[in-house]
Amino acid sequence: MIGFSRLSLIAAVATVSAQLQQPLFIPSEHVLETEHTGSKPLVDTESLQARITTENLFKRADALYDIAKSSEEHFNHPTRVIGSEGHRKTLEYVASEIEKLGDYYKFSTQPFPAVMGQVFQSRLVLGHSVPESAYPMSLTPPTSGKEPVYADLVLVGNVGCEASDYPEDVSGKIAFIRRGTCSFGAKSELAGAAGAVAAVIYNSEAGGLSGTLGTPSPNHVATFGLSGKEAEPVVEKLKAGDVVDSIAFIDSVVNTINTTNIIIQTVEGDPDNCVMVGGHSDSVSDGPGINDDGSGSLTLLEVATQLTHYSVKNCVRFAWWAGEEEGLLGSDYYVATLPDEENMKIRLFMDYDMMGSPNFAYQVYNATNAVNPTGSEQLRDLYVDWYTSKGLNYTFIPFDGRSDYDAFIRNGIPGGGIATGAEGIKTKEEELMFGGKAGDWYDPCYHQLCDDIGNVNATAWLVNTQLVAHSVATFAASFEGFPKREAAKAASVYEEETLYHGRYLVR
Ligand SMILES: *[C@@H]1O[C@H](CO)[C@@H](O)[C@H](O)[C@H]1NC(C)=O
Ligand SMILES: *[C@@H]1O[C@H](CO)[C@@H](O)[C@H](O)[C@H]1NC(C)=O
Ligand SMILES: *[C@@H]1O[C@H](CO)[C@@H](O)[C@H](O)[C@H]1NC(C)=O
Ligand SMILES: *[C@@H]1O[C@H](CO)[C@@H](O)[C@H](O)[C@H]1NC(C)=O
Ligand SMILES: [Zn+2]
Repeated sequence: MIGFSRLSLIAAVATVSAQLQQPLFIPSEHVLETEHTGSKPLVDTESLQARITTENLFKRADALYDIAKSSEEHFNHPTRVIGSEGHRKTLEYVASEIEKLGDYYKFSTQPFPAVMGQVFQSRLVLGHSVPESAYPMSLTPPTSGKEPVYADLVLVGNVGCEASDYPEDVSGKIAFIRRGTCSFGAKSELAGAAGAVAAVIYNSEAGGLSGTLGTPSPNHVATFGLSGKEAEPVVEKLKAGDVVDSIAFIDSVVNTINTTNIIIQTVEGDPDNCVMVGGHSDSVSDGPGINDDGSGSLTLLEVATQLTHYSVKNCVRFAWWAGEEEGLLGSDYYVATLPDEENMKIRLFMDYDMMGSPNFAYQVYNATNAVNPTGSEQLRDLYVDWYTSKGLNYTFIPFDGRSDYDAFIRNGIPGGGIATGAEGIKTKEEELMFGGKAGDWYDPCYHQLCDDIGNVNATAWLVNTQLVAHSVATFAASFEGFPKREAAKAASVYEEETLYHGRYLVR
């Protein structure tokens, strides 16, 4: 059984003050000129990097931790989850820091509705056993009346991706479905449409199964994930025709709140050729999120601040996404509402999420032109070349949809980024490459209360912020040698292969 503490739901609308609202995509008539004629020197990577200091970064981290504490009244601990006071104040902090930069940037907010789920209590009993690995899917609806349902388990045919896989007698019962092919959300929906009162999706691979149902559907039923190991004896019983009477109970809510992205763009620079860079402004509800993604958000704020000493040739657009932790909501919304013409102006998107994990590795997303929009690989190589030039080691990590770059690469925009590791385990080899401790998580406080100021490695954060400055300076000055944009394109190629959407497994 999983016990979640009952958090008070905050209906507060997280928007920054209304006078800051401006048109969203920064229409070009607001742009004064594309060739710089002022007195500032053209941005140069070495001098921009030289302006990055650990002191400035940690000053900002201190401010962010204080902001996270403003949620204590409702959550009993610091957090910057969307809908919380801590998140609202994070947005205000970003807005007020940008305001200090005068008219170097145009500021805009993009409010959007965000679906949020919370599970307060859950319980699954299969026959006479209580499986340890049973875990409610994110965004699951509750069982009927938020009460336990008592029903037999019914084995669903194949992998439960077709209506015909659901036998008639699943109606009023609990559907038992194997993982595979289609999304967890699709299975839950089909189970609901067939009249099931709950669903259990069991893993076809080793380990437990925690994922998300994704966009709510009226047909979704209360859904658990279960390890393949614990499912196996149950499947055998069902195949032998034995009855497995069960209890499913989920007390949860799924509701919609308002939150907002913040987007800024240099007034100067060619508005038809933008380099875009983003991090996420929100944390999970369990903690203050100073590494995830306070580090990336503050890195962007510091680079945006230092950039104002220079002129730029290409436009630079920074984004602070909201709702990343609920499933990349802000970046999805942004890209989905981008007209094709605007999509084409974004030459590339760089994602900066978790820049200073305490047990870090220098990780570069293995984005290649073979499977991602052309240009992604050139960006990957920019990071590789920089680490190499500094005599630092790096590793490639999968570019598999776990952060805000996802919507961009699905829609034809080249993307990439760097990270320092979340719940993955550092190898012996990586200990030799980066220091730290093999066998531990890269970030032992990932998504926990202890993701505070002490959870950011100063060296890694400084190094990576310098690299972010390098990436921004390089493309702000020139796109020479960087591939021209290909047409905005629909997502299907990537969609079929993506296992993750944000931190959650979707299939
Ligand atoms: C969200 O914003 C919309 C439009 O401003 C408003 O109609 C709606 O009531 C808001 N929802 C919540 C939950 O505050
Ligand atoms: C990077 O991705 C390419 C495919 O796009 C693959 O061939 C290569 O093995 C990957 N490298 C690593 C180190 O994962
Ligand atoms: C890079 O990794 C190697 C081991 O593969 C190690 O000997 C070397 O010291 C590392 N370099 C740095 C700068 O940490
Ligand atoms: C940051 O990481 C480096 C390399 O692993 C280590 O030497 C240093 O002590 C770490 N700093 C902190 C504050 O933990
Ligand atoms: Zn993150």
